[in-house]
Amino acid sequence: MRERNLVLTGFMGSGKTSIGIRLSYRLKMTVEDTDKLLESREGKSINDIFASEGEAYFRRKETELLAELAERAVSASGKAGSPKIYSVGGGTPVAPENRKLLKRLGTVVWLRVRPETVYQRLQDDTTRPLLQCGDPLARIRELMESRREAYSSCADITVDVDGLSPEEIMDRIEEGRKGMKLLVINGPNINFLGIREKSVYGTQDYSYLLDLIEKKARETGNHIEVYQSNHEGAIIDRIQEAYFDGTQGIVINPGAYTHYSYAIRDALASITVPKVEIHISDITAREEFRKVSVTAPVCQKQIYGKGLEGYLMAIDFLLGGADPQG
Ligand code: S3P
Repeated sequence: MRERNLVLTGFMGSGKTSIGIRLSYRLKMTVEDTDKLLESREGKSINDIFASEGEAYFRRKETELLAELAERAVSASGKAGSPKIYSVGGGTPVAPENRKLLKRLGTVVWLRVRPETVYQRLQDDTTRPLLQCGDPLARIRELMESRREAYSSCADITVDVDGLSPEEIMDRIEEGRKGMKLLVINGPNINFLGIREKSVYGTQDYSYLLDLIEKKARETGNHIEVYQSNHEGAIIDRIQEAYFDGTQGIVINPGAYTHYSYAIRDALASITVPKVEIHISDITAREEFRKVSVTAPVCQKQIYGKGLEGYLMAIDFLLGGADPQG
């Protein structure tokens, strides 16, 4: 299968453009800069677009362009051809719809940088309209803080660039690219761990589970996103999105939906990546209604009764390479 595009994100001055160009030589991949594409489409510099049309117009055009590129990437996946490197404007991940599009476009890299470094690099720069103010360092700090969650929630690979040479930054990106991209989905009431029925589910809370999974991702060098929702439709939407965003395996604890959600079962069945169903408790030794799983038959494996450790076992199963049929 064709490799995925690489998408460089990060704050202004984090090095997206220069790393993009260097990576393009190293990996022999074409590089595109979305700001440059927009400038040539509009026939104006970013500064002039902001000045004459305003930021809202710029953001609309940014999303339109991203939607086109993502659409192209999705329709090219599975076909022959060469992936590209895209370096995108610093504010692109802020809009939630853009985050979804970035994930569809390719493997998202976040070049994380300190505000002081950005200030140093851009103090004489006049091409960033958002930094043309009296106290650019304060503006950088404030913008960066408000965007942190946006960058982090769409990144597959995060590289702390301060103090690293371009070669080291590229090494980290290449290393991250080798990892698998897995998705853990937690259904209703799993966010209530540590509160609900402690004798069944234990005393550790949900953030403990998140830490456990994050540690596993770090130790094994893979990217593992965790998604939780109490809503059936939202879970289905997330499963469907996995079809577009390059997810290579799913661990799902559908909670009580396990026993009756044919809709979640159908969504799982439509995604061909390996799937593991996990339950914290032993569902075979509780109420009658819990003995039936309508979702397990469309998963490769079911794990239950192992506590939170079961999630790690499910991840290990997927990392070991599972048969995608089933
Ligand atoms: C912006 C960053 C710029 C450009 C525009 C807005 C932002 O791109 O898209 O000035 O909101 O952070 P760079 O990150 O390439 O500077």
